[in-house]
Amino acid sequence: MSTAVASIEEGVKKILVGYQGAGRDALIPILQEIQEKQGFLSREAVVTVGQSLNLPASKIYGVATFYNQFRFKPLGRYHIQVCRGTACHVKGSLAVLDALKRELKVDAGETTRDGLFSLEVVACIGACGLAPVISVDGNFHANLTSQSVAGVVNQYRKKAR
Ligand code: FES
Repeated sequence: MSTAVASIEEGVKKILVGYQGAGRDALIPILQEIQEKQGFLSREAVVTVGQSLNLPASKIYGVATFYNQFRFKPLGRYHIQVCRGTACHVKGSLAVLDALKRELKVDAGETTRDGLFSLEVVACIGACGLAPVISVDGNFHANLTSQSVAGVVNQYRKKAR
């Protein structure tokens, strides 16, 4: 077993200690806590939870994919959150999201193949005056258009070099 896999399992087991005796209704809070601590739900994490709750991994994936808050791949080096709240929607956030998907060649909830960017859709991030707005690792980029998103992405590509 690799050290990475071992430490994922170890971390999940520590989390599960807090849910001893809990039934299957604890599944969602357990998965939330794993994602919070490990950043995503790995295969190893899902299998370990399944063993503890006596649930097949396929069942856990079924439940987890129903709630689109869960990620199954690690976040990218830069985490892009596209606001799809009302103010941003009215100002064209859907076009911004589509442009980002094209630029990064991923869907929302995915990470680029080079691991540089992950793309997530979120509700209002509290900066409606900047709509449509995205956050990259907590830094806001305001008044975006489908034309201007490539420039923002390229800023981060340059930074990463
Ligand atoms: S709706 Fe986008 S920041 Fe509020």
